[in-house]
Amino acid sequence: MTATVTSTSAQPAAAGTRFPDGFVWGAATASYQIEGAAREDGRGPSIWDTFSRTPGKVVGGHTGDVACDHYHRYAEDVALMADLGLGAYRFSVAWPRIRPDGTGPVNVRGLDFYDRLTDELLAKGIDPVVTLYHWDLPQTLEDRGGWTVRETAEAFADYAEVVYRRLGDRVATWTTLNEPWCTAYLGYGNGIHAPGKQDPAGSLAAVHHLNLAHGLAARALRAAGARNISITLNPCEVSPLDPTNPADIAAATIIDGVANRIFLDPLLRGEYPADVLEHISRITDLSFIKDGDTEIIHQPLDILGINFYTPSYVSAKPGQPGAGDYPGSEGIAFRKPVGPVTDMNWQIEPASLTRLLTRIHRDYPGTPLMITENGAAYPEGVHDPLRVDYLNDHLRACHDALAAGVDLRGYFAWSLLDNFEWAEGYVKRFGIVHVDYTTQERALKDSAKWYREVIKRNGLE
Ligand code: FCB
Repeated sequence: MTATVTSTSAQPAAAGTRFPDGFVWGAATASYQIEGAAREDGRGPSIWDTFSRTPGKVVGGHTGDVACDHYHRYAEDVALMADLGLGAYRFSVAWPRIRPDGTGPVNVRGLDFYDRLTDELLAKGIDPVVTLYHWDLPQTLEDRGGWTVRETAEAFADYAEVVYRRLGDRVATWTTLNEPWCTAYLGYGNGIHAPGKQDPAGSLAAVHHLNLAHGLAARALRAAGARNISITLNPCEVSPLDPTNPADIAAATIIDGVANRIFLDPLLRGEYPADVLEHISRITDLSFIKDGDTEIIHQPLDILGINFYTPSYVSAKPGQPGAGDYPGSEGIAFRKPVGPVTDMNWQIEPASLTRLLTRIHRDYPGTPLMITENGAAYPEGVHDPLRVDYLNDHLRACHDALAAGVDLRGYFAWSLLDNFEWAEGYVKRFGIVHVDYTTQERALKDSAKWYREVIKRNGLE
């Protein structure tokens, strides 16, 4: 991450809760979740347009057709960001706006939108942090096999370079993919996300082609001149329910393998872990891994983005059917959340974030980390003390990780705005800014006002 963003500390916080100088304070969104304008200015259809129109896939039949209408209201939204004092804004580029059919002609009007947005951000002193893929794959590419085929990885690198050539003079930080875990396992494993496939072998091919897409794009971006290259993962702390039980420990190792190490190891060590390859070889013949692929995947990484929401606890349970989002998880049970949960029914456990960051720092040393998403869904309303608590406690967990020596460079709240929460439609609200979907009015929630103070003092109270 570029160090161009410096937080001002108007009132220094107590020593214990102050963040390092230059710590990046941001908020994040994603194209399909906020932009709307689904058929405007030459945008082609994405897998989420198709999926959200498929009956029964998204709560309430909601689609991203209008969403937060950010495509038209981006200037107003950037003004909000400036009002909050954000140093950086993480947004994603919609591939089908840039190349409507995935590989063909470039749609200049699509690039123009991100150009306007970038300039608006810079004019307000906000650092644009671009994610090139946050799940809206051009439908034409899905029709040719999507992430289960290698061509999609190649097409991604070409598209990445097109965007870089337009914005690279002003955008410092380039993130290739957002949460390939979700793309592969929710998209092609259990099918709760677009394109809605249920194909365990296909989901593992998708994992590899996403890793490869990152490597090819990172290489192309760097060759074109990009300096700060990152990927955002959603690593999860997977713990054995009974830490003294060897069968539970073995179960946790399997899930940690298919959820975390299958991405982290090739990206940061240049090889897939042997235990994971062995484990998945009963599902796939691995023929999609070609000679030289792991070298391509293993590109220098300037920052590793981490999205964190909740931990997992697993135990060995003979006879338990496998979960589609964890291939080969037969005989392993996931504990239901205990204690306080958010509106997503996700267990709240901030200390898990500290442990996760510490572990990544230890096992994959030398790569600076950035929280690229963290936040909570709570029901409608601008008074959101539970969200304030969630954010406060997780920032404290980040601070604990810093104190333990983790090289953590910044924090992006998910999300700037209430938005289209994928299969949950507009029902789950993650915004620190409330959106009235009838009038498109924005209103700062208490959490946004609280976050503004955190940013101002560069620390917690
Ligand atoms: C993450 C996604 C993001 C949002 C949050 C709640 O997995 O990256 O788009 O949906 O979860």
